[in-house]
This record gives sequence, structure tokens and C-alpha cells, in this order.
Amino acid sequence: MINPDIPYNSIALVYDEFGLDEFSIRMIPYIKSILGIKSFRGMKILDLACGTGSAALELANQGADVIAIDSSESMLKLARKKMKASSRKVKFIQADLRTFEVDGSFDLILCLFDTLNHFIHINDVRNILTNAGSRLKSSGDLVFDLNTHYGFRKNWDNWRVVRESDRFYSIWDTVYDTKERIAEITIRAFSKSKNQLIKAAEVTVPERAYTSSEVKKTVKSASLNIVEVFECLSTKPPDADSPRNVYFCKRAWGI
Ligand SMILES: C[S@@+](CC[C@H](N)C(=O)[O-])C[C@H]1O[C@@H](n2cnc3c(N)ncnc32)[C@H](O)[C@@H]1O
Repeated sequence: MINPDIPYNSIALVYDEFGLDEFSIRMIPYIKSILGIKSFRGMKILDLACGTGSAALELANQGADVIAIDSSESMLKLARKKMKASSRKVKFIQADLRTFEVDGSFDLILCLFDTLNHFIHINDVRNILTNAGSRLKSSGDLVFDLNTHYGFRKNWDNWRVVRESDRFYSIWDTVYDTKERIAEITIRAFSKSKNQLIKAAEVTVPERAYTSSEVKKTVKSASLNIVEVFECLSTKPPDADSPRNVYFCKRAWGI
């Protein structure tokens, strides 16, 4: 039985070190261009599962008023540390996406870097989207990306990579159960200390592939409409060989 807990507390240490925060940073100009946003200045943005806060801080840097939520204390600790070192202000909140509460309504809500794949029960995805959708302004946009079945088969099926930074050595192993559509990534990190490696973290994160019809149904049942879907970071409609897709949604009654 795959453990549904999301153990990002252990990976926080190496998250930015291995550039895992870079994807959401790359998504910012892309989302801006797809949505035709000239400037984020004055926009109210909610970043769901903000991780170490890199995207939230960049949005604040570009003038947005940002609230960012994550369940991992360690990821948020790093986010707050980065905020202190910058002159930006983001309200970081520790909460579970399935039950979060936040005041106000938002022009833009983001849930990036296959975060929704981390929820292996589709009811959780529906609850998160419903909760998020209810916080959107009537003209607001909700954007999320998902790894696809094809993406997991191509990139996660018995794949091993070793990554090294100045401070850490790490081994990343992935497996994908094509029948159950459940993937798992195991990350083992070792800190380099003089001539020896000391185990610093070991964590396994499960993710589920959802079919496009499951996503469409779930979005609809969350009272949202999909306005556009693209292969991530492109303007190409998704096809059977798209490894990751991005969904642009609005409130069903807001269109
Ligand atoms: C792949 S990371 C993405 C982080 C960030 N959006 C980025 O692009 O770097 C997934 C994030 O989801 C958070 N997360 C997982 N389950 C969660 C939950 N139930 N509630 C809130 N955050 C959760 C993890 O702590 C982690 O920071």
C-alpha cells in the first residue's frame, strides 16, 4: 500500500539546491503570456503548495499581493528565510490544501509542479479545486499542471539519476505502475562531510496519473470550466505524447 503522506519536510533541505524550484519560476512568464497579463502589479495571487516560495516571491517582486500555502513546515521555513533576505512580502501559511481557509478572493490561483498528481485520491483533487475555485474572483483564473500517464511512462519508469551539488550527493529512483497509474519517486540525499557521505534524507513521494477525461470531470464537478489546455510551457494542444499539461480554468458561472 502506497503511503499517501507527502513527506516534503525531508526533501526541503535539497529542494532548491537541486533546482526543483526552477519549474514554477519558468511558469510565471508563460502564464503571464497565455493569460495576456501585462503586469502582476496589484493582482491578488494565491500560490497553492508554494514549496520553498520561489515563485511566490518572484510574483511579489513583480508587484503582486501574494498569499502562499503549503503543508510542509520545512519548505515554509526556507520560504520565510528567502523572504527575509529579500525586500519582498508574501504571506506564507501552513495548511493542508484539502482543508485550507483563506480570507478574500483572488485574481489568480496557482497550483504548480504536478502538485495535484501528489493526491492519489481523485476526491482530494476535487475538494482542492472546489475550495480553490470558491476563492477566485468572478474574472479570476486558476492554473494547474499535471504529469500525464505518458510522462510517467517516459520519465518515471525505472529511471535512476545521480545528482551532485557542492554540499550534497543524491540518488533519485522512480517507478511507475502503469496499470494502477501510480508513480513513486524515492530521493536519497547525503551531505558531503570531509571524505565521507552522511545520510541527510530519504523520502518516497507517490504521484498518480489522471486521464484527461478524469481531469475534465473533476474540474466540472468543482464548478470550474477549463478555458484552455496546453502541453506545458507551449501553446500546443495536448496529445498522446504530452508529458505534462497545463490547465487554465475559470469559475463556471464567472465566464
Ligand atoms: C512538487 S512540490 C511543488 C512546490 C512548488 N509549487 C514548486 O513549484 O516548487 C509539491 C508541494 O506540495 C506540498 N504539499 C503536498 N501535499 C500537500 C497538502 N496536502 N497540503 C499542502 N501542501 C502540500 C509539498 O509540501 C510541496 O511543497
